[in-house]
Order: sequence, then C-alpha cells, then structure tokens
Amino acid sequence: MKKIAVLISGSGSNLEAIAEACRANRINGKIVCVISNNPDAYGIKRAQKFNLQSVVIDHNSFASRTEFENKIENSLDNYDVDLIVLAGFMRILGENITKKYFGKMINLHPSLLPKYPGLDTHKKVIQNGDAIHGISIHYVTPELDAGPIIAQGAINITHDDNIESIEKRIHMIEHQLLPEIINEICLENIYLDVNTVMYNDEMDVTDHILINYDE
Ligand code: GAR
Repeated sequence: MKKIAVLISGSGSNLEAIAEACRANRINGKIVCVISNNPDAYGIKRAQKFNLQSVVIDHNSFASRTEFENKIENSLDNYDVDLIVLAGFMRILGENITKKYFGKMINLHPSLLPKYPGLDTHKKVIQNGDAIHGISIHYVTPELDAGPIIAQGAINITHDDNIESIEKRIHMIEHQLLPEIINEICLENIYLDVNTVMYNDEMDVTDHILINYDE
C-alpha cells in the first residue's frame, strides 16, 4: 500500500476528503503523515479525528526557506513516503525540494491552469467575467503552479456567483476528483515519464482529464 503525505496550511477539507476515501478503501493507500506549516490550521484537528500522525513545521521558526524545507524533507524521508500531496499548502517550495520529489509530489490548485497561477483565483474569475472555472491537479516543479497537469475539473460560472458560492462548488469538485486521482496514482495507473503524464491503458482517460461537473 502506498504511503501518502499530505501537506496543509489551513482548513484541511481536502485532507479530510482524502482521509475519508482511504478509510472507505476508495484509495489504495494510507496517509502516513500530515504536515502543516501553520500551527493553528484547522486541518490538524481533522487529522486527529482520523488518528493521523501530524507534524507542525512552522515556517516562522526557521531562519531561511532552505532550513524550513530541509525540515520538511526530513519528515517526508522519515516516513518514507511514496506520494506527497499539497492540499491547500500555501507556501511556495523551492528548487531543491521540488526537484528531489519530482514525479512524487502533486499539487491541487483552484483554477484551470495555465490560467490564474498563484492566489485569489476565484476573485480573478469574477473580475474577468469568466464563464468557466475549475481546479487542476498537477505534478510539482520549481516553477509555481506550472508542472505537468494530471487532471482538471470544471464548473460553469453564472452572473449569480460570488466568491463564496464559487469556493463552495470548487471544494465539492476537489473533494471528488483529488481522491480519485490519488487512487489512480497509488495504483500506478497514472505516473510521470520524464515530463509527460502517462495514463495506463486500463484507465478511461477521458473520465479524468477535463471533466465539466455542470454538464
Ligand atoms: C483548496 O481550494 C485548494 O485548491 C487551495 O486551497 C484550498 C484549501 O482548502 N489551494 C491553493 O490555493 C494552492 N495555491 P482546504 O484547506 O479546505 O483543503
């Protein structure tokens, strides 16, 4: 069974969706550690609810980003993880750590990349009057939110939408798609070959690449 680390910074609703999917055997893997850079993250309480090991690595207590990332690396290596999931982890990771775990580290991002890397994606969607928005799950590279895309989920945006309504629907599709993709990676149905995302023949790729949850 694959050993999964989940990195969080805040609420941890995606962590809970992953933990729930593991418990229900919808993921052929096990969360072996939860790492939070924020000592007050609500996700730590969610981790406790599922009896998951959690480690706080507060970026504020390190003199440099390198020391902070070295500490994260130590934890990941101690738990001998197979897959690292950045699920609402709000620190940018540098070149050393992202290169070390290239192909093993995935990120959940709330936009249809390459549109809107970085922060405030829902706000940008509203400001630009976009009709479609969504989420991306991608392999992590040193360049922010720019690694090979594994899967995307889309929603339609209407004039009635606001940041709160979008956030709610984005969370709904994240909680569905992220555990599914983690399971496919654990089953080795999805993997990275150099820079290309590979999908096992047995997988119906069209079911995962870009799904519009409103159609
Ligand atoms: C999620 O919507 C995730 O896509 C986003 O943070 C939220 C975390 O929610 N991630 C990013 O913005 C990464 N740049 P959660 O803590 O409830 O899982």
